[in-house]
Amino acid sequence: MEAAHYVIRLMEQDDIPQVAQIDREAFPGEWVFRSQSAYRRDLGNSSVRYVVACKRGAMAEYRTQKTEKVSWFKRLFTHERAANVREDIVGFSGFWMMMREAHIIAIGVRDRCRRLGIGEGLLIATVELAQMCNANVVTLEVRASNEIAQRLYKKYGFQVTGRRPKYYSSNGEDAIIMSTDSIASMPFQASFQELRDDHARRHPELQLLIS
Ligand SMILES: CC(C)(COP(=O)(O)OP(=O)(O)OC[C@H]1O[C@@H](n2cnc3c(N)ncnc32)[C@H](O)[C@@H]1OP(=O)(O)O)[C@@H](O)C(=O)NCCC(=O)NCCS
Repeated sequence: MEAAHYVIRLMEQDDIPQVAQIDREAFPGEWVFRSQSAYRRDLGNSSVRYVVACKRGAMAEYRTQKTEKVSWFKRLFTHERAANVREDIVGFSGFWMMMREAHIIAIGVRDRCRRLGIGEGLLIATVELAQMCNANVVTLEVRASNEIAQRLYKKYGFQVTGRRPKYYSSNGEDAIIMSTDSIASMPFQASFQELRDDHARRHPELQLLIS
């Protein structure tokens, strides 16, 4: 079996600067509502969950650095490596829980890492986390013009349930509201499992570590 290169895991405080950077890249015009301090607040909020996709090697190295007691001398010379490690988050997604609804805040992947199955992996992790939070449905808003994201969501059974006129203040664009059927229902579970297995077959280099 091919070695995993990317890992999807829960987001941590130290990830915030990179996540904010990806947010700015992926959502020009919207990211301004999600500042670094807003992310810090969200991580302390039990109704909010975020996951990140990162390079596996980078994560292992990062964890070693966090736990190991490093002398001032070594720190001086590992600064460069730490900076490189911090560049290795490639995508993120998050949702908040309202009653039994998991509402996706955003899913974003670095431009240079798109079309590698990472966005789909983040959506799978998001739905699985929503299931763990006892959500009944997953919902979201997406720009009417964002056909790429809508295609991803439709693949996972999201249906258009409404429209918010002029929702995006940057250009007055409408938002499409999309929602799943009950994620606990047998038909959803069966189709989700099939898609998840197919994604794992096509992307053995991507590992989900969220449970
Ligand atoms: C939407 C986004 C997260 C997809 O991430 P990604 O890692 O490139 O997507 P994946 O490689 O996992 O593709 C998964 C599915 O998305 C759809 N998709 C992704 N890129 C696509 C493209 N260029 N054209 C058509 N469909 C595309 C397809 O359905 C694809 O499934 P397939 O491989 O069976 O065709 C990414 O394009 C992004 O960050 N966009 C900017 C932010 C955004 O719009 N977020 C969503 C709104 S909340």
